[in-house]
Amino acid sequence: MRTKTIAGNWKMFKNLQQSEELILGLTKALDFSLGSVKVIICPPFTSLGLAGTLVKGSPIALGAQNMHAEDEGAFTGEISPTMLKSVGCEYVILGHSERRQYFQETNESINKKAKKAIASGLIPIICVGETLEEREKNITDLIVSTQVRGCLKEIGAADVEKTIIAYEPIWAIGTGKTATPQQAEEVHLLIRKLVGQLYSWASAEKVVIQYGGSVKPENAKELLSQPNIDGALVGGACLKADSFATIVKSATLS
Ligand code: PGA
Repeated sequence: MRTKTIAGNWKMFKNLQQSEELILGLTKALDFSLGSVKVIICPPFTSLGLAGTLVKGSPIALGAQNMHAEDEGAFTGEISPTMLKSVGCEYVILGHSERRQYFQETNESINKKAKKAIASGLIPIICVGETLEEREKNITDLIVSTQVRGCLKEIGAADVEKTIIAYEPIWAIGTGKTATPQQAEEVHLLIRKLVGQLYSWASAEKVVIQYGGSVKPENAKELLSQPNIDGALVGGACLKADSFATIVKSATLS
């Protein structure tokens, strides 16, 4: 049985005060039984320290949006996995399409970070997904498979079983266009089968595969009720406590 996992990617939104308001609002709004649903928030680096203190003792877990692949060093402007651990992070988003697009991240660099995250005791949320052009050319399977293979390279079965893969079709991110539950389910199944091929079916059955791309309260339930959609990576809709809580609620019902 896979744990339904809902993560909020705050991106470059919310200063310290706004972060505090959102987290306090969220702890109030999540006033229902979460059952076995896992809730993760990924605020910007500047809010992680405060967030770590505020979520302590609550059912909300903390994640970062990126990290460097070294523990320390002369890397001006970077944040290391040990730094993330020290403020209470348990998760880290890696290879988000915005990082691939604007910060030249590749499957190779994401793989390096994923291995380092695991070695540091962080759970990576590895993002994959095709562009609209790639979907229209009918090469979604090839693109996503290449990303999954590249990002999971040299990661052992026990670690892969704990890793989260987020399928985020780029054309659905921040656009209001959501993949239909069927379109998403198709790619999720492809990813699960690929993990089965690379490792074993037992491992594939344990991997949590989230969907991301314009997930909102109105479409969450249908997406989350697909057999291979194990959660959501939410952008825009996680910036308001009520809408994020409604998405989490959908996960408890699906
Ligand atoms: P969105 O972003 O929900 O705003 O489309 C999702 C993401 O980029 O993780």
